[in-house]
Amino acid sequence: MNITYYGHSCFGIEVNGKNLLFDPFITSNELAKHIDATAVKADYILITHGHEDHIADAVAIAMRTNAVVVCNWEIFIWLQKQGVENIHPMNIGGKKLFDFGSIKCVNAAHSSSLPDGSYGGNPMGFVIESSDKNFYYAGDTALTSDMKLIGDYRQIDFALLPIGDNFTMGVDNAIIATEFIKCDDIIGMHYETFGFIKIDKSSAINRFNRQGKKLTLLEIGETINK
Ligand code: NI
Ligand code: MN
Repeated sequence: MNITYYGHSCFGIEVNGKNLLFDPFITSNELAKHIDATAVKADYILITHGHEDHIADAVAIAMRTNAVVVCNWEIFIWLQKQGVENIHPMNIGGKKLFDFGSIKCVNAAHSSSLPDGSYGGNPMGFVIESSDKNFYYAGDTALTSDMKLIGDYRQIDFALLPIGDNFTMGVDNAIIATEFIKCDDIIGMHYETFGFIKIDKSSAINRFNRQGKKLTLLEIGETINK
């Protein structure tokens, strides 16, 4: 499973030969100027909520790739108004089998509005289960006890968790989240991009290590294999 980091919370993850793109925010990310958003592959675009830093490039990439956009009902309506046609609406609690594996939408404790101020519905996270690996992409969220439900009923091989604090959980709460989801292999996201969420990266990695857990912080543009 190849995982490519495009900055902030945007990742491309290849699952059974399909490219899943999460929360596309590239062209307006000052730290991702070296990434060519017009070359990013996508068969599916998964959007956790409507905030600009998760949806900014969604319309352009959806139009270019004709990827299936997976998002909540309110974002589905909004994207249709922007001219996007290939959308699969879901909502929290729902699970759907696609050709690469399944997506389950789970609770995220955050807020959601679209860039033009439209109501964005409830934010969510995604649990991806496949014949290859299972993983949890948390989106923007606080630590929530609902995360225990994720760990209690399936095996999570790795998880992408926000660690930047201020708008989402930070490192200490992300470490507690690893206990809830019963997964110690974490890829960090939602840090560094803006002043509010700058963190000491080596200290974050050390804090995970001290608890016997692994925090991977990718360079923007880097690809790893899991
Ligand atoms: Ni947000
Ligand atoms: Mn955000």
